[in-house]
Amino acid sequence: MSMHPPEPFRIKMVEPIHLIQEDERERALQRAGYNIFGLKSDEVYIDLLTDSGTGAMSQDQWGAMMIGDESYAGARSYQRLSSTMDEIFGFRHFVPTHQGRAAENILCAVILKEGQYVPSNMHFDTTEGNIRARGGIPTNLVIIEAFDSESDYPFKGNMDLKKLEEFIKQVGPENIPLGMITITNNAGGGQPVSLENLRAVSEIYHSHEIPFFIDACRFAENAYFIKLREPGYEKKSTLEIAREVFSLADGATMSAKKDAIVNIGGFLAVNDSALFEKICNELILREGYITYGGLAGRDLDAIAVGLMEGLKEEYLAYRLGQTAYFLNELKKQGIPVIEPAGGHAVYIDAGKMLPHIPQAEFPGQSLVVEMYRSGGIRSVELGSVAFAYPDPDTGEMHFPEMELVRLALPRRTYTQSHLDYVVNVLKNITSKKESLSGYRILKAPKLMRHFSATFEPI
Ligand code: F0G
Repeated sequence: MSMHPPEPFRIKMVEPIHLIQEDERERALQRAGYNIFGLKSDEVYIDLLTDSGTGAMSQDQWGAMMIGDESYAGARSYQRLSSTMDEIFGFRHFVPTHQGRAAENILCAVILKEGQYVPSNMHFDTTEGNIRARGGIPTNLVIIEAFDSESDYPFKGNMDLKKLEEFIKQVGPENIPLGMITITNNAGGGQPVSLENLRAVSEIYHSHEIPFFIDACRFAENAYFIKLREPGYEKKSTLEIAREVFSLADGATMSAKKDAIVNIGGFLAVNDSALFEKICNELILREGYITYGGLAGRDLDAIAVGLMEGLKEEYLAYRLGQTAYFLNELKKQGIPVIEPAGGHAVYIDAGKMLPHIPQAEFPGQSLVVEMYRSGGIRSVELGSVAFAYPDPDTGEMHFPEMELVRLALPRRTYTQSHLDYVVNVLKNITSKKESLSGYRILKAPKLMRHFSATFEPI
């Protein structure tokens, strides 16, 4: 019997979930234009759409919310969050934001000019969108192993250092107002970045006087991967590792909806005081005063507690163990997955699983729809629906390297039997996969189309 480290918690409050009938699921799909973002949550049985804001808060977090201080300025909640921020991240300044993309928007507003470049291992789509919205050009320079779903390289989120050096030479450091890295690399399978790589990236950026920002959404999972996989860090605590990571950077953006295990929130942190002044002005205009940034005082308390809980090693062993268990069970059924297991999700290589569906007909979308139809499971396409785009000059389509479907695991939410159910549904789909058809887009916006596009089966 295979299993993962048992949950380091027991369940005190439950939320009922139901599997609606097959004909109801079919009607729901048609109504939603075969886009699972259009489903009502009551129509979904197991929701693996995202790990963002969908986790279960602890009794300590709920308790902390009860002492939230709702003062407009200088609230006690802000002071408590501030001391946790110091303990983990150590940046000189920070502001809370209502979520990660708000931090990205503010950062881009104050630092980025039209035509400038922002390199990263891989930008998440909101980061990419925020850079493009300001006329900037996001560039992904992750190592080549990231695109080999069978490579078991331990840090597939690493930046390609040679490519980074060449890129900076090519476009000129004066055209790069900031350099980034995403930990873990969500757009590339939730794969971690090593401390060795982070150190080298930091040195490269700094040698060209480019400020270095970390997209820190899943920094705790990344820290635990470093502890497990990077020589010399076995005995360091995840807190010590996280501190070392952030000591290399000039700032960070974070969606607290991930590793801070809250339902809403984020932050933008920096060392540079002049930059911070601009950030404060922009924040006050768009989000709220600098000690709450668009959140309630109680939200700040939940983040402060959640940041420390998310770093607990007992929790992380269960968390990453659950993801690895899920991946192994899928593999046993012959389902092509990105290996090794990432932190927050399992990614199915739908291009490989459904080779009879061409990229232009969205194999990932086909699998996403079938998982809902067969089992009421909601997942998300991260392939050509999300990432293909027409060449601005020729109109020819650029397709992404892989057609992925992400099954994200909300934190502390689903049990092993829920995951066994999902594996079973996928096993049944595999046995009839030749019968799955492709999709065509009926209607889609230009930016971030996967949220609202509608489809029809071919
Ligand atoms: N950066 C990364 C790496 C992310 O994964 C996300 C969100 C964001 C930034 C933006 O944060 O949603 O709070 O504005 N990822 C979610 C996901 C939506 O499903 O992966 P946000």
